[in-house]
Amino acid sequence: MKKILQKGLLFYPTTLEVLNMKISYKNIPESELKPKYESEDDLGFGKIFTDRMFVMEYKNGVWENPVIRKYSPIDLDPSAIVLHYAQEIFEGQKAFSTPDGHINLFRPDRNAQRFNSSARRMMMPEIDPENYLFALKELIKLEKDWAPKSLGTSLYIRPTMIGTEPGLGVRPSTDYLFYVILSPSGPYFPEGFQCVKIFVSEFYIRAASGGTGNVKTGGNYAASLLVGSEAEQYGCSQVLWLDAIQKEYVEEVGASNIFFVFDDVIYTAPLSSGTILPGVTRDSTIQLAKDKGLNVEEEALSIKNVIKGIHNGKISEVFMSGTAASIAPVGSLYYQNKEHIINNFEIGDISRELYNQLTDIQYGRVEDPYDWIVKVI
Ligand SMILES: Cc1ncc(COP(=O)(O)O)c(C=O)c1O
Repeated sequence: MKKILQKGLLFYPTTLEVLNMKISYKNIPESELKPKYESEDDLGFGKIFTDRMFVMEYKNGVWENPVIRKYSPIDLDPSAIVLHYAQEIFEGQKAFSTPDGHINLFRPDRNAQRFNSSARRMMMPEIDPENYLFALKELIKLEKDWAPKSLGTSLYIRPTMIGTEPGLGVRPSTDYLFYVILSPSGPYFPEGFQCVKIFVSEFYIRAASGGTGNVKTGGNYAASLLVGSEAEQYGCSQVLWLDAIQKEYVEEVGASNIFFVFDDVIYTAPLSSGTILPGVTRDSTIQLAKDKGLNVEEEALSIKNVIKGIHNGKISEVFMSGTAASIAPVGSLYYQNKEHIINNFEIGDISRELYNQLTDIQYGRVEDPYDWIVKVI
């Protein structure tokens, strides 16, 4: 396959099949429907899944057979490419129940775009963004009764693509499966909005420039498990990654981007190195902060400056951004065998305001001036 140079990055051309998609629907007998969860109070995250899933296959260079069918195991050959060489990508997004009975998606076009950019990097076929959105909406409409309604809950959406061709040997698969599953999820902060502790990884790294740091692919997360367990030993729920070369510049957290309020400027790592995930929440947070008149700089801070700033009070707040929590304030960083407490482990005003503003838009509690919301029902 011919390589092409696009915006300084090497890409392999892939086909973008616009399907004009007609989904077939497989009925599920009443007796096979799952019992609904009893209470919205202990949903947790990613533990239960709805009755149906969307599935579509890629064969002979085209996407075909889009179907919404019963949620059930996938038949895979034990030699399937994904199981050995991890040719896999996914997305994470949420549907939010609004007080007036609607269900909102938040910037789903951004997830569709990121899915396709992940697909290009992993040499997988793209999906027409309109079909991607259509699939999500149709599935959610059918599963609307599974969408929880209480404060902070959501219907988590996991679009996934895997290389299914059987046979060993490192190469791109010829066949793929795209599927979407839905998981009713509880609030990220079941005990209320509160600060989290983060472990700074000094030895292990997440991504180097030219690698797959800006791609949502399973291997990135598998490689983070070891340090994640180290973080837990210190009571930290997340890992903060430093740059791979100098182990000096702050990049992002396990499943979130990170912001530092330093002398009235809000810093977050730039996307240009290609080592962090371009978060949809990160982009939205930057926009909200700028529109509040705050100064935002996409510039990587050195961990030494961060620690110094925490101690001399120049850093007044640190917060993470991501689909899981929207905005999550950081109470301390565990670095070089010491816990460095930020703002007395208290939530800062900027974190709180951005959290309120963002979640108010997502849950339809206020008007959306940005056109970020797409209504499903
Ligand atoms: C590594 C990583 N960084 C950042 C994010 C935040 O991205 P988003 O705001 O799109 O959820 C995520 C979550 O998807 C992630 O896995």
